Amino acid sequence: MEKILVVDDEQGLRDVLSIMLKRTGYAVTSVADGEEAVELLSKEIFDLVITDLRMPNVDGMEVLKVAKSASPETVVLVITAFASADSAVEAMKQGAYDYLTKPFQVDEVQLIIRNALEKRRLTTENILLKREMASQSSFAQLVGQSEAMQRVFEVVRKVADSKSNVLICGESGTGKELVARAIHYNSGRSALPFVAVNCSAVPETLLESELFGHMKGSFTGAISNKAGLFEVADGGTIFLDEIGDTTPSIQVKLLRVIQEREFRRVGGHQDIKVDVRIVAATNKNLEKAVADGSFREDLYYRLDVIPIRLPPLRLRSGDIPLLAKHFLERFSKESGKPVPTLTPEAMHVLVGHEWRGNVRELENLIERVVAFSTEGTVTGSDVEGWLHRSVAPQSQQGVSLDLTEEGVDLEGLVNGIEKELLIKALEQSKWVKKKAARLLRLNARSFRYRLEKYAIKGGRD
Ligand SMILES: Nc1ncnc2c1ncn2[C@@H]1O[C@H](COP(=O)(O)OP(=O)(O)OP(=O)(O)O)[C@@H](O)[C@H]1O
Ligand SMILES: [Mg+2]
Repeated sequence: MEKILVVDDEQGLRDVLSIMLKRTGYAVTSVADGEEAVELLSKEIFDLVITDLRMPNVDGMEVLKVAKSASPETVVLVITAFASADSAVEAMKQGAYDYLTKPFQVDEVQLIIRNALEKRRLTTENILLKREMASQSSFAQLVGQSEAMQRVFEVVRKVADSKSNVLICGESGTGKELVARAIHYNSGRSALPFVAVNCSAVPETLLESELFGHMKGSFTGAISNKAGLFEVADGGTIFLDEIGDTTPSIQVKLLRVIQEREFRRVGGHQDIKVDVRIVAATNKNLEKAVADGSFREDLYYRLDVIPIRLPPLRLRSGDIPLLAKHFLERFSKESGKPVPTLTPEAMHVLVGHEWRGNVRELENLIERVVAFSTEGTVTGSDVEGWLHRSVAPQSQQGVSLDLTEEGVDLEGLVNGIEKELLIKALEQSKWVKKKAARLLRLNARSFRYRLEKYAIKGGRD
């Protein structure tokens, strides 16, 4: 039964309306003044509120505002005296659905109410439907049954709708970006942009203009005014990926946007205000970076309002079977093949593997399994084979650790693996050397040394 609140200081009118509406089948509550109405609205949700505009103390405008802010979907009808069309117009601007001018016909009121409630039903259903779709599309991709991941999902669900900043930490490939997307698509912002920026892939000066935009002529190459990604993301979410790699000067500017919600374009003199939800991610230990002075402490605390720590896959091996099945199905569907089955031994091998590259490594492996599997079942030794090849994808013989009478060429073997890993790391980092070096836990110098040793050319700094 739909709930209606009638607010009028005139007892006669109040009674006529209540009786008529009760008879039609609504649950009606009626109160004689605005104060009581406001109090009730803070406790209960009504489908529709009919309020007189002119009342002593708390007037109908106030009732309207409170009703709308308590529940935007509540329909509000205002009653005005014949002479006060202005206030009726003002009430419509404030979100009233319609107004009734005294004296009015009971039939007329009934019709308006029926239409208003019908419209409300449709919008609420729409909102629910949209949310449902959004949550399906974003959560359906996030798989995990381990307690750690269940906790992550819980946080995502709880904080999606808030505006608080989120900081997602976790090793490479643990799903940071996927979680950031899930937050966005489960929030009220889902219809507006989700803008991802990789702060480590862009040089500092470019990053500033990427984020905040620039004015024509502010630097060589700034041939026109350009909006930054914060402007593009207005109303939505900006995902600041690899935030741990930002320079001090970018960090100061980010701090300002977070604190003031405004910024200036490069070369601009005007403050630009935006409403953007900030989600940042890093695979660095930011606490350590704060301690050694490479990351601003104030920025860290501003970002870490809602911390999400994604555990590495090897610490939640319970998720591996589920993830493996999820990827098997996805890649089979994408390539139009029947879904192969993994034997228990195959699953055993997967669960026991160390997964340094986390979910991404598992995903890549399953993609290969699907691409190359010709039989319907995948055995443990198939998986072993693929795991080795994933370390040394181009080696002809794979890596055999069997030491037979004829012996092995240790140097050749090790060099081969080293070279292939260097290339793989570069490819995985889109040939950004700094990133590739990090994947191999090498400092810049020893990484460069190895590139020279194996005559690997190309790549960016
Ligand atoms: N829980 C999960 N369920 C399903 N797929 C996942 C999950 N976590 C990660 N993935 C998949 O693994 C891959 C890596 O995830 P993502 O890019 O979000 O990781 P990341 O932490 O941002 O990695 P990096 O630090 O390397 O950028 C993606 O293809 C993603 O779809
Ligand atoms: Mg990422």
